[in-house]
Amino acid sequence: MSNIREVSRAAGVSIATVSRAISSPDKVSETALKKVYAAIEKVGYRPNMMARNFRAVRAYSIVVLVPNLSNLFFATVIRGIEDAAQQKGYAVLLGDTRDSHDREQEYTRLVETRQADGILQLRPHTPGKSLEPDSGMPMVSACGCENTPYPSVRIDNTGAAREIVDYLITQGHRRIGVLAGLPDNPHSNDRLQGYRQSLENAGVPFDPDLLVNGDFTMGSGQMAASHFARMKDRPTAVFSMNDEMAIGCIQGLKSAGIRVPEEMSITGFDDIEFARYSDPPLTTIAQPAEELGRASFNTLLELIEGKELQQTETVLPYEFVVRKSTPALRR
Ligand code: RIB
Repeated sequence: MSNIREVSRAAGVSIATVSRAISSPDKVSETALKKVYAAIEKVGYRPNMMARNFRAVRAYSIVVLVPNLSNLFFATVIRGIEDAAQQKGYAVLLGDTRDSHDREQEYTRLVETRQADGILQLRPHTPGKSLEPDSGMPMVSACGCENTPYPSVRIDNTGAAREIVDYLITQGHRRIGVLAGLPDNPHSNDRLQGYRQSLENAGVPFDPDLLVNGDFTMGSGQMAASHFARMKDRPTAVFSMNDEMAIGCIQGLKSAGIRVPEEMSITGFDDIEFARYSDPPLTTIAQPAEELGRASFNTLLELIEGKELQQTETVLPYEFVVRKSTPALRR
């Protein structure tokens, strides 16, 4: 473990200068600062400043960790973050983590080396696979799940899934497929719980054959369609855990000669812009994506400013949007 002495040696400045560069960079010349930051990087120093001094100096920028930049839902959350950040004079550094824990960790260096003041995490927290709340590092989840171990903003994923499956049941469906995300994705698990609760309330037994795991992309939705299309006893409706998979699934079902929604209803989740333009337009859950972004930035700013949070979890309302992909079942 390297220490401040090694940093001072590598930078060619005194220990006092290193210490000042960490706690009060505005009192140190730019040349010295550059030397110190370069030395911190070189010797791999992880100073206790994490806990000590986050508030003392500001970079006026934050890091946003995005698991998949091509997902339109995340793009809209980021728009909300940027709007709120800009209003407060903060810049947004985007970290496209591609769902990789290692990449996430790389980006935390920006905060440790004071190039950013905090982190907004868009991937729901997966124990052992996500960043853990670090000592003193301001971090907020913009897409929280149940039991996020640090401040978060989210919707009630379980309740929303239950509501959409309840609706399919009132439309006459009993055999309802579920197109989930990856099994270790907490949003996928929260939504699956809602699906199961709805079936249970209606006295419909859970059939594991009706569960297909995708990865929240259109391609995986299209692949799932071939599973549903091949089934002898096909579902009459499919609850997809996001719009992108639903759109891919519709495409796949059509290619397999199945008419949507006449032979199979389908629902999505998110209400991305394509949802209303898909054919048929998608019944879905509208997540308040921009508001998730804005609210999470405001929470992060409170942490950066050292304020005590009034609440560590904010649950925002969602909207259930009915479109043409879910007509009543014709017997
Ligand atoms: O990870 C992808 C999905 O999780 C998004 O489509 C959105 O539903 C988010 O909660």
